Amino acid sequence: MRQNRAKFVVDRSGGSVGPEVRAGRVPVVGGTAWSATRTRVMTDRLDITSLLADLTLAEKASLLSGRTFWHTKGVDRLAIPAIMVADGPHGLRKQDPDNADHVGLQGSVPATCFPTAAGLASSWDAALVRRVGEAIATEARAQELAVVLGPGINIKRSPLCGRNFEYLSEDPVLTAILGTAMVEGIQSKGVGTSLKHFALNNQETDRFRASSDVDERTMREIYLAGFERVVRNARPWTVMCSYNRINGEWASQDRWLLTDVLRGEWGFDGLVVSDWGAVVHPPASVAAGLDLEMPTTGAVSARMIVAAVESGELDVADVDRSVERVLTLIDRALPGLAAEGDTVDADAHHDLARAAARQAAVLLTNDGTLPLRLDAGARLAVVGEFARTPRFQGAGSSKVNPTRLTTALDALRELVPGGVTIDFAPGFGVDDPDADDAALADEAVALAADAQVVVAFLGLPPSYESEGYDRTDMDLPAEQLALLARLAEGPAKVVVVLSHGSVVTVAPWLDQADAILDAWLGGQASGGAVADLLLGVANPSGKLAETIPLRIEDNPSYLSFGSRDGHVRYGEGRFVGYRHYDALHRDVAFPFGFGLSYTDFTIDGVTVTATDGDERTDEAWRGPVRATVTATVTNTGSRAGAEVVQVYVGRPDLDGARPVRELAAFARVELEPGASEKITLHLTERDASVWSEREGAWRYEPGPATVWVGTSSRDLPVAAEITFPGTVTVAPLDAGSTVGEWWEHPAGHEVFLDALRNSAVGDFSGLISDPEGFQMLRSIPLARLNRMTGGIVPPVEEVLAKLPAEARA
Ligand code: BGC
Repeated sequence: MRQNRAKFVVDRSGGSVGPEVRAGRVPVVGGTAWSATRTRVMTDRLDITSLLADLTLAEKASLLSGRTFWHTKGVDRLAIPAIMVADGPHGLRKQDPDNADHVGLQGSVPATCFPTAAGLASSWDAALVRRVGEAIATEARAQELAVVLGPGINIKRSPLCGRNFEYLSEDPVLTAILGTAMVEGIQSKGVGTSLKHFALNNQETDRFRASSDVDERTMREIYLAGFERVVRNARPWTVMCSYNRINGEWASQDRWLLTDVLRGEWGFDGLVVSDWGAVVHPPASVAAGLDLEMPTTGAVSARMIVAAVESGELDVADVDRSVERVLTLIDRALPGLAAEGDTVDADAHHDLARAAARQAAVLLTNDGTLPLRLDAGARLAVVGEFARTPRFQGAGSSKVNPTRLTTALDALRELVPGGVTIDFAPGFGVDDPDADDAALADEAVALAADAQVVVAFLGLPPSYESEGYDRTDMDLPAEQLALLARLAEGPAKVVVVLSHGSVVTVAPWLDQADAILDAWLGGQASGGAVADLLLGVANPSGKLAETIPLRIEDNPSYLSFGSRDGHVRYGEGRFVGYRHYDALHRDVAFPFGFGLSYTDFTIDGVTVTATDGDERTDEAWRGPVRATVTATVTNTGSRAGAEVVQVYVGRPDLDGARPVRELAAFARVELEPGASEKITLHLTERDASVWSEREGAWRYEPGPATVWVGTSSRDLPVAAEITFPGTVTVAPLDAGSTVGEWWEHPAGHEVFLDALRNSAVGDFSGLISDPEGFQMLRSIPLARLNRMTGGIVPPVEEVLAKLPAEARA
């Protein structure tokens, strides 16, 4: 039997597993746990052309929605198989399809729970993310899954979004590079991905209805940029549309988004699937370019599609096109489903999860207390419920049933040198209304009084952040902060380990901790990874993928986050995250890109060279290389470690409201003590371009740019000026063009002067010699100038007629 090839191993030692396991909620795996859900696919590749000819309209319509919560429909008559999909993104959530409750309350088969996207992104390590993707795909193949529903690459607009743990970053470049790695990793094993949630789904509040109201430039430069780059680079098999509306139109029936942009501009050749329940009117979705509605709606949607074709509301060609894409998806999945899968080595995947969690953690502060130096006889106080009940993933559709769970408490006990005593006190209750927090805190404070070091595991209880709702503040629970304040008054050094999926306020209590290690939601092995980092078995190298502001009020979306009257106004425009804080010179608690190490690095010999545009990167579509940055990174300390060199670009000349600088490229280097490595990064035309709403295209304009090189958005010791050659684009003139636009237009200038000279009421060319007066005239459209002055220029149609055709709009 095929399922026997999946050799998961569940650690039943009792020593290194968490409470869920102890409570028996992690089923024994090894095949039988998911045998009931199996749908073995044994079929030849599909002959799509002949199938399209043979299918009836009713059969075609039936293929455009699911059979179950997780299966597509098949057509027995023509041997078209059904395929199964499952969440994603940081591990599988394969539920029993006949008994699916969708939101993760009912168990799914065990799978490795890797660090959530918030953690993975802090690694800034595309190779690592790719390896995680490959491992997820290996498990997916063992489970006969065709598509993993992820990665989620929505931009983190606000720390309050309840689902931030599933998203990568506030920055589209980091998002795109890591998103590409995840898609490539999964798909390299013959399993599909679903890039989600397309698009503008940056909050959970009212997510099924609200309209995200955003100007196009902001969409293109921030919110669509990540999707564009992953689609173009990695060709995901599917894209999942979001629930929300975009400027009033449902994402699930937005033809501009799903067809014109996604396919027309970016060349997407896969299938668009709806988020679960996102479809409002099936025929409108099909017409717009949505191919597969999930989950099942019984026969309802199919009947509506047939009726719409028969009434003429829906073109049958649209149905055929979507059916072809469904068949293509099935066909793409067949080789992976039919072939022998790799054996799932749960040990190896758990080790990979631990390695990933080590790289996900960000060391925020350290006065030298870390790594812990514990001699025989030392006492370590471990405080905080999270040390034994780890918070390692978020709630909702991404909730994985882990193959095993390592707690930090157990891992520390295993790793500390002999003779070191570890005492534990929970300190506070987690989501437990009956907890006596005062008594728990007293116990923890008493324990800490006898210790050299107290490690306080603080974080957000599970109920604070989840799919389906947003937070209302970004603070840790008050009882945890009160406990920390008391621990800080004691004699022991205080190390704080944070577990949370979205940014928490740290500024008010920074001085109460001697070191802070931010572990995010690090997956099933995060307990072990944290122990490795605390004890110096591993060296922290994570860098923040999002800014930690001083207070939530500083966040640019603060005044417009949420939904009012069904609308979310993206009032801050392109100024998301560090783009805002940098533009306003606002202090932050920790900047984007920041993270400490136990070793030291230098970055020397930075060169920034403008190039002639003869070269292209692997991403040829991003245009010619226009600048090359080199730098040499040296590990000057005594431990192996990793540094991330970050390159930002600013275009001060382009319209005033441009972010001061934006991440363009980065390189992560791992170095032994004393070792050096030279890195080379390329800046392409796209890195220096802006989206022009007028032209509906990216514009690479000539002008000066500053290229910054450093290790965070606020630590950029090298700044070099270069000039991009660019292309001057002149807007064609039309009836609405202003005097200033005529004046600056190469062809319009003379025509305008001539018009002033030869108007029906005289020669008014003298107006241009009055600098003040002319400055005022510049903003007036020529047509209005004609009307409001009794004709000091001829009617605009006459003036336009004198222009060469190419100068007219
Ligand atoms: C979520 C998706 C998920 C789907 C299937 C939806 O509610 O938004 O991310 O893939 O459910 O579980």
